[in-house]
Amino acid sequence: MNFKLTEKKVSEIKSDLEIIIVIKGDLDHNSVKDKDSLIKAGFSGEHEESCLLIENNRFYIGSDSIKSTDIRAIMGVAMRSLQGTTFKSAKVLTYMSHPKCTAVLRGMVEGIILGNYTFDRYKSKKSTKNLIDIIISMEEYHGFSLDKDSCQRAIDNAIITANATNYTRDIVNTPPEDFYPKVMAKMAKKLSKKSSLECKILKKKDIESEDMNALLAVSRASRHKPRVIHLAHKPENPKAVISIIGKGLTYDSGGLSLKPADFMVNMKLDKSGGSAVMGIMKAISEMNISVEVHGFIGAVENMIGGDAYKPDDVLIAKNGKSIEVKNTDAEGRLVLADVLCYAQQEVKADYIFDMATLTGACVVGVGNYTIGVMGNTKMASDMVVNASNKISGEMATKLDFNRYLGRTIKSNIADMSNISNTRYGGAVTAGMFLSNFIDEHHEDRWAHLDIAGPAFVEHAWGENPEGASGSGVRTMIKLIEKVSRGDGHIVEVCDS
Ligand code: BES
Ligand code: ZN
Ligand code: ZN
Repeated sequence: MNFKLTEKKVSEIKSDLEIIIVIKGDLDHNSVKDKDSLIKAGFSGEHEESCLLIENNRFYIGSDSIKSTDIRAIMGVAMRSLQGTTFKSAKVLTYMSHPKCTAVLRGMVEGIILGNYTFDRYKSKKSTKNLIDIIISMEEYHGFSLDKDSCQRAIDNAIITANATNYTRDIVNTPPEDFYPKVMAKMAKKLSKKSSLECKILKKKDIESEDMNALLAVSRASRHKPRVIHLAHKPENPKAVISIIGKGLTYDSGGLSLKPADFMVNMKLDKSGGSAVMGIMKAISEMNISVEVHGFIGAVENMIGGDAYKPDDVLIAKNGKSIEVKNTDAEGRLVLADVLCYAQQEVKADYIFDMATLTGACVVGVGNYTIGVMGNTKMASDMVVNASNKISGEMATKLDFNRYLGRTIKSNIADMSNISNTRYGGAVTAGMFLSNFIDEHHEDRWAHLDIAGPAFVEHAWGENPEGASGSGVRTMIKLIEKVSRGDGHIVEVCDS
């Protein structure tokens, strides 16, 4: 897709189609051009409702507001409904709500690219996507004049962000037969060459020398050997150092605590955290953000077999802590425990985040659309929630730790058990398990993102088509951009 920003008025632009956003209330005033035809067609301007007036090549879509998050979502919906049409070019206004606030424009461009995404690699008949040229007019909805350079920058960053999200989606959507730890490592190497990132791959022998025994136990029954991937973006004079650790379970069968058939379907999604790390690293290097960012991925397949790790085993993690295995399906925390230790050994970070499709309990708790954010203190979790909700278009909410839930992972024979002794609060107990592998230096600088809900979409919503969503990519890019500007924990006024 090509995006062209122009100072021309919409009426002066030649294109096959015009996309018009109907903001809540607009239809009641006489500001909408085709009001009568729209009403005749039954269009009432509700959020995400669309109407194509084919006679005059205008496509209308309703939005509750001109907030960036709404514009991103409705543009995603618009692109899905335009798939299959033959329009090759479309023109649209910026709909910016403040002359300096480009968040709406960024949201619009992200929404267009994200909504247009399909995963057709395995289809003989590919979906038809004719819309190639998007022309954005700076003629303003509100009548004020806009700065072309900052608008262009917003478009460029939107393209990078959305393409990185789609890159993550492609990885997650790829079936486990074609995407296993070695493939992930190769892909990271390829990315590092293209984006001038540093890349280090740890193979099984290296992982053994690093004493990552919990990770190794999870990987043992698979014919695919594990990999630990380290990607680094190292600009000169960075404003801060951030480490991001991703759960990269290229398949989670549950292991000997085997998942029931219905629960195993889609478990290729269990590499979503690691895949998000790849997308984030890609975007950060393309934007050349002045923050040093390290991405670590534990790439492992959790399978069954004669060599499988078992419930009742006791594993010694990299930091020497012992873990009694009571359920081999709680494998993500075992992999992360070791990779968190490794990441902290390699890099002293100002902030450390981990991203994982860690628990079904998180989906039960906060639903399919929201990231659960946890940590020992507020600081790092607040950064995630602030970067997410108001700006990125993703949703995130905090889940608090407490000492009583912490006690439920006690073990009689080891330092801790890998599951809790209560059936409730599973997202929090998993987060508290991980906190055992955060060292003193990072204690207050760490947040854990459970993306089990939003990582894989059952029914398309907003800018997310069915399948992998690229959950967490946009949030973390935004967070890192904010840190580079020195306002890591301040909510941007113009984004609300
Ligand atoms: N990968 C799953 C979590 C998951 C479930 C992600 C559904 C996405 C959708 C994880 O490894 C897992 O199986 N967790 C168990 C933990 C339990 C055994 C304590 C779960 O959530 O059931
Ligand atoms: Zn599992
Ligand atoms: Zn898992």
